[in-house]
Amino acid sequence: MKADVLLGLQWGDEGKGKAVDVLTPKYDIIARFQGGPNAGHSLEFNDIKHVLHTIPSGIFRKNQMNIIGNGVVIDPIVFKKEINSLNELAVDIQSKLLISKRAHLILPSHRILDAASEASKGSTKIGSTLKGIGPTYMDKTGRNGLRVGDILSPDFREKYNSLTEKHKALLGLYDFEYNMAEYEEGWFEGIKEIKKFKIVDSEQYINDELKKGKTILAEGAQGTLLDIDFGSYPYVTSSNTICAGACTGLGIAPNRIGQVFGIFKAYSTRVGGGPFPTELNDDTGEEIRRMGREFGATTGRPRRCGWLDLPALKFSIMLNGVTQLIMTKADVLSGFSSIKVCYAYETYEGIISHFPYDAGIIKKPLYKEFSAWKEDLTAIRSIKEFPKELNDYIIFLEKELEVPVSVVSVGPNREQTIERSSKLKSVASV
Ligand code: GDP
Ligand code: IMO
Ligand code: MG
Repeated sequence: MKADVLLGLQWGDEGKGKAVDVLTPKYDIIARFQGGPNAGHSLEFNDIKHVLHTIPSGIFRKNQMNIIGNGVVIDPIVFKKEINSLNELAVDIQSKLLISKRAHLILPSHRILDAASEASKGSTKIGSTLKGIGPTYMDKTGRNGLRVGDILSPDFREKYNSLTEKHKALLGLYDFEYNMAEYEEGWFEGIKEIKKFKIVDSEQYINDELKKGKTILAEGAQGTLLDIDFGSYPYVTSSNTICAGACTGLGIAPNRIGQVFGIFKAYSTRVGGGPFPTELNDDTGEEIRRMGREFGATTGRPRRCGWLDLPALKFSIMLNGVTQLIMTKADVLSGFSSIKVCYAYETYEGIISHFPYDAGIIKKPLYKEFSAWKEDLTAIRSIKEFPKELNDYIIFLEKELEVPVSVVSVGPNREQTIERSSKLKSVASV
C-alpha cells in the first residue's frame, strides 16, 4: 500500500486536525511527521472542542493506531498534559499510540533558548510560539540532540546534564533571566509518562504495516508557507512541512506516497511575523477574524487575516504534488459584501503571477472579485445545497489550481464536512 499525506497549503491552522479526524475511519494508522507543540490541531464532535499539540488527530477514533514519528520534536511537559486531558475523557490512548525512538526531545533549556533568542531580535521577531522548536531542531541538525530512545539508556541523566550545560553557556550570550529549575521537575515527570508508552522503531513498523496492506495517513503540522526551505525565511518554522517531510519524518520512501491532500481556508491567515501579501489591515480583516474566530489554538494570539492568495497556493501545490484539495471555513465568508482572490502581484519588477523569493518586491496584490454567498452554510450537508456563488468560487479555484476540490468544510464539527465529486480528474489518476 501507499501512504497518503494531509498537509497545510498556507501558513498553518487550515483545519488539519478536523480533516484528519474526519478521514481517520478510512485508515489504519495516523502518523505525525514533523513539528511539535507549536502545532494546535482542533477537532470537534459531540459539541466538545479538543486541541492536540503532539498527539495525532486520529486518537479519538476507536480502531486506529497513532504514531508520533521520528521527525516530530516532543516536549515531555506538554505531552504529559495532553495525555492527562485525554485520560480525563477516558480516551484509550495506551494501546493506540506509538512513539518513535528517533523523535527528538525538547529540553527546558531549548524553550528558554527560544525565548532568549526571540527577545534579542527586537522588531525582527519571528513570532515563534516559544515552544523550543527552533533550538531543538538546531541541536538535531547540529548532532547534539537527545532522542526518545535515549531515555531508555542508563546514562540518560548525564546526557541531559551535558546538553543543558552547553545551553547554559549559550544563554550566557544573551541578557536574559531564566529559571530552569521551574521546568525540570515537570520535564522528568513527562519522561516517566513517555516511558509508559510503546517506544518503537516507527519507520520499521510503518513499512511492515504498509507491506501487510495497511493504510496510513500522515498528518502535517504548520503549513507549506512556513517550511524551513520554501517558506518566507526566516519567518518560518524549523522543519520541512512539505510532503517530502513525510518521507524523512516517518521513513516512507517517496515512491510509497499515494494521495496528497492539500488543505486551505477559503481565505488566508497567518500568526506571527513575516510577509503576508494579501493581509487586510482594515474592517474586512477584522470581520474575517471575528467570524472565523481566528485566534491561535496554541498561543491564543489573534491571527492576521486576508484574502485567498492563488500564487501562494499554486506554489504550495507544486511543492507538495497535491492530488486533492480540501477547502475549509467556507461558512465564514457568508454574507460578506464581496470576496476577493489574488491572482497576481504588482511588483517593482512588473506584474508576476508566481510566489516570489522576496515578498518585499510586492507593491500590491491584484484581485478578482466574486459575489459572496448569502446563505448560512453551517447546516448544509450535501453539494446539491451549495449556493451558486459558492459553486462558482470553487470551480474558479479548481480551474486555476488544476486540482480537484474533493472536500468542503462548512463548520468546525465532524458532521460539517461535505465530500464533493469534481469534474476535474484527480491528478493522481491522470
Ligand atoms: P489546524 O492547526 O490546521 O488543525 O487548525 P486549527 O485547529 O489551529 O484552526 C482551525 C480552526 O478552525 C479551529 O478552531 C477549527 O475548529 C476551526 N474549523 C475547522 N474547519 C472549519 C470550518 O469549516 N468552518 C469553521 N467555521 N471553523 C472551522
Ligand atoms: P498548526 O500545526 C500557525 C508559526 C509561528 C511563527 C513561526 C515559527 O497548528 O498549523 P515556531 O514556534 O515554529 O518557532 O514558530 O511559525 N507557527 C504556526 N502558525 N499554525 C501552526 O501550527 C504553527 N506553528 C508555528 O506563529 O510565526
Ligand atoms: Mg493550528
